[in-house]
Amino acid sequence: MINIQVEDNNGARQDLEVPVDMGLSLMEMLKAYEYDIQATCGGMGLCATCHIAVLEGGDGLPELNDNELATLDTLPDAEMNSRLACQLRCNDQMDGLVIRLKALQEA
Ligand code: FES
Repeated sequence: MINIQVEDNNGARQDLEVPVDMGLSLMEMLKAYEYDIQATCGGMGLCATCHIAVLEGGDGLPELNDNELATLDTLPDAEMNSRLACQLRCNDQMDGLVIRLKALQEA
């Protein structure tokens, strides 16, 4: 198990306990915690409804893949710390990660 925090619009952080042995993506994990992520592309890195900003602890994350980069490129609100949660597989390097859900903020 690792711990990830999700910061809401008010700066409050929710702690999530995330298993790393199930091969789940961060998007699937967030959905399991009932965050309202549509994931209309099914985790293909195309719909950007799983757009997150990495606020802390992103050093161990893998490089952006081509799909992710191309999709983030189409978003007006993408920033240097933007990622697509469906392209990140939960693993030990993500312990202590703090994220904000960008797609939900716009709603
Ligand atoms: S679920 Fe569609 S881009 Fe991540």
